[in-house]
This record gives sequence, structure tokens and C-alpha cells, in this order.
Amino acid sequence: MAEERKQLWHGRFDTGPAAELVAFTQSLSYDQRLIFDDLRCSKAHVRGLHRGGLLTEEELGQVLGALDAVEMEFRMGQLAFVESDEDIHTAIERRVTEIAGSAGAKLHTGRSRNDQVATAFRSYVKRELAEIASRALDLVDALATRADQAGTGKDAAYLPGYTHLQQAQPVLLAHHLMAHAWALLRDVDRIADARVRLDVSPLGAGALAGSSLPLDPDGTAQDIGFARRFENSMDATSDRDFVAESLFVLTLLGVHLSRMGEEIVLWTTEEFGFARLDDSFATGSSMLPQKKNPDIAELARGKAGRLIGDLTGFLATLKSLPLSYNRDLQEDKEPLFDALDTVRLGLGAMTGMYATLQFDLERMAESADSPYAAATDLAELLVRNGLPFRDAHAVVGALVRTSVDDKVDLSELVQAEPLLGDAGVALLQPGVSVQQRSTPGGAGPGPVAGQREQLRERVAAERSRWSLGE
Ligand code: ARG
Repeated sequence: MAEERKQLWHGRFDTGPAAELVAFTQSLSYDQRLIFDDLRCSKAHVRGLHRGGLLTEEELGQVLGALDAVEMEFRMGQLAFVESDEDIHTAIERRVTEIAGSAGAKLHTGRSRNDQVATAFRSYVKRELAEIASRALDLVDALATRADQAGTGKDAAYLPGYTHLQQAQPVLLAHHLMAHAWALLRDVDRIADARVRLDVSPLGAGALAGSSLPLDPDGTAQDIGFARRFENSMDATSDRDFVAESLFVLTLLGVHLSRMGEEIVLWTTEEFGFARLDDSFATGSSMLPQKKNPDIAELARGKAGRLIGDLTGFLATLKSLPLSYNRDLQEDKEPLFDALDTVRLGLGAMTGMYATLQFDLERMAESADSPYAAATDLAELLVRNGLPFRDAHAVVGALVRTSVDDKVDLSELVQAEPLLGDAGVALLQPGVSVQQRSTPGGAGPGPVAGQREQLRERVAAERSRWSLGE
């Protein structure tokens, strides 16, 4: 029975492969999503063969027609696979040969699966990364909209800003939300940067050394839509830097979503109470009727773990491979497919969650209005009155300690301190402290309004870069 399986490479073999080999080495079960990219690259390849005189006009028409037929069959769920189809590339070639006969058998002329796989995979990843960038921009938009609603003017919403998860200084809610937006914009920029290095066609590199046949790697690169062709055929077939880099940018994006998720988990607790989840973006408990759970936020956090696994696992696969192609490289697909799916779904869920989140602005303001939150403002008032900052820090520190230890209102102590007095007490009034942050890029109304404009311009520039990019 083993003899009945006819592999592409059956010529040199007496018997067909063992069932165990087929089961262990196949990639068809997960690489079918490369079909449209393989078809596009295969069409470019046969047009190149035709330009090189390796395919007649008639044969070209037959092979292109067969490739279209395969696409149609696949779209209609009618492309039947057979056991010798190791991967989607093999399946396409087999079916093209069945449809187009001897013309079909010329499809693989001057091509190896090594350059074929690398070319189709790059084409797929290039498009998928553009999709991720556009979804990341959707999340940036959702955050920016919420920042607009929170306001950037004198009566804007504010909350405590934290360091060490201890209340530090009040900040505008818009400022806090936009902090996440800037991180996501760096992710979008990293995607664009990774795509530049990815934008190379390995087609024509063959198994590792090119070919004696008149191929046209420049022409096929252009036909597929790559910026350029490979410079070194051995590098072209064994290079998976684009996979590692894509995994890194996706993982870092996932880590950003995880940190945002952790914050939402905290903000929606009874103890913080800064936000409530919309019913459509929250889950219930099977046993505890009162519960509303932040599962999206938790999974954004949890799935960062698997993204880190995808990245580190693939780096481990790569690290000891000698030049050039090794079958280990087939392990490039599942981690990257997983990372793309995870980040794509995560971005969609987080965008909806942020768009519908209900902020408890009163609760936020109340927490931020603790008089101790204005301690730095008091110290800065002393600095404006001529005290060295270190001394000012000590004066205010002592006032806070007395207030805590003796349970005296801080404002009474501030009033009694000659260098502070009325001006100091004024800083302790609700909502006053956050107004003080005037540094460009800082957390007060003036700079935050300016920042919002900068963000608007950056998003518009990114949107146009990505719509032109494809
Ligand atoms: N499915 C394989 C991959 O993704 C195809 C390449 C097989 N090449 C080979 N020389 N056996 O890497």
C-alpha cells in the first residue's frame, strides 16, 4: 500500500513513504491559508517561464487556466486533497497537472519548493501585517475618541496617575488613554519597518543555488508585487528573519494589549471602581449571579504568554540551522499563523471593549483629589518661592508625615506653613493639582490638548501610508 502514494519526488524512490512519515511531516493541515499567495506566485512564475521561452503561449494559457480552476475549486470547497499532497504547494501542482496535462507538468520548471514556499509565505505575511496595522489603528481611534469624550480642557476628566501602583500625581484621563495610543503607534511603525525588509522575492533561487534555465527573478518579483528580488540564493531560501521579526512585532503588540488588559482588570474591580464593562464586552459567572467578568482583558493578558512562546519557540527552531533550507523551517508557519490570529482577534475585542467602556468619572476624581496627591505641587510652590527642591521636598514630606501620624488635615498644616499659606491651600482644592502640569507632553490641560492634535496628525499619516502601501 505504501507503494501507491506518489510523491512529487517519487522518481528516485523504490517505494512510497510510510504512513507515519506522511502523518509527521505533512503541513497541508495548516498551510492551506497560503493557497491564494501560492497561486499568485505560481502565475508570476509561469509568466516568467514564458518570457524565457520555456513555455509556449498555448502552454502558458493552459497553466494559467488550470491555476484559476484550482482557485475556483478551492473557493467552492471542491478542491479534493489526496494523501500524497504534503502541503498546499504540492496539492496545487498535482491538481494543475491533472487539469493541464503535460503543460501543467512544466509548472515547477526552474523552481524548488524551497523558493516557492518562501515566496508564498512572504507574500501572505506582507498582506496580513498590513491588516494588523490597520486594526491597531482602529484601536488607536477608539482610544482617541474616548480621550475626546474625557476632554482636554479646564473641566476635563482626571484620575490618579500611578507609579509602583501607588497614587502619584493626578493626570487627565485623556492623557492616560493616549499613553496607550502612542505605544500602539510604535507597533504600527515597527510593522511598516519589518515589512520593508520582508519585501523581497526569493523566487528564482531554486533549491539553494538558482538554475541553469533562463529565469527572470526581477520580472517575477515585480509581477508578484515585491519591491525587489533576492541577492543571494542560499540566503533567499533559508532566511526566515521576516518570520522572527514579524513574531517580535506581534508579540510586543500583544504585550501592550496585555498591559492594557491588566489595567482594565484593575479599573473594573469593586476596589478601584474606575470603569464598568458594557454587557456585550463582559462575561458572567456560571455560579455567582452578581459577577461581571473582564474576560477580554484577562485573555489579552493571558494570550501574551502564548505570543512570547511563539516567538521564543521559533527562535529556538532557527538557531542551529546550517545553510540553506532545512525541513525544520516548515515550523515557521504555525507560530506565525497563531500570532497573527491571536493579535488580530485581540485587537478587535479590545477595540470594542474600549469603545463601550463606561468610566466612573466621579470615582476617578474623588480618588485623585486626596490632598496628598498635591504634595509635589506644594514642593514646586516652595521652589518658585526660592527654596532648593531637596529642601522643599523635606518640608512637604514632614507636613505629610505629621498629617498622617497626628491625623491632622494637611490643609491646616499647609495654612500654618509661612512659605505656603493661602497659595498652598488653594493647590489642595479638588481638580486644581492636575491643572498645574504644564510641561510639553505633560498631563495637564494645555499640553494634553496639544498632544491630541499631534496624535490626530500621526493617525492620519499612518492611515494614508497604509492605504497607499498595498
Ligand atoms: N511544506 C514545506 C515547508 O513549508 C515545503 C518545503 C519542502 N521542501 C523540501 N525540500 N522538502 O517548508
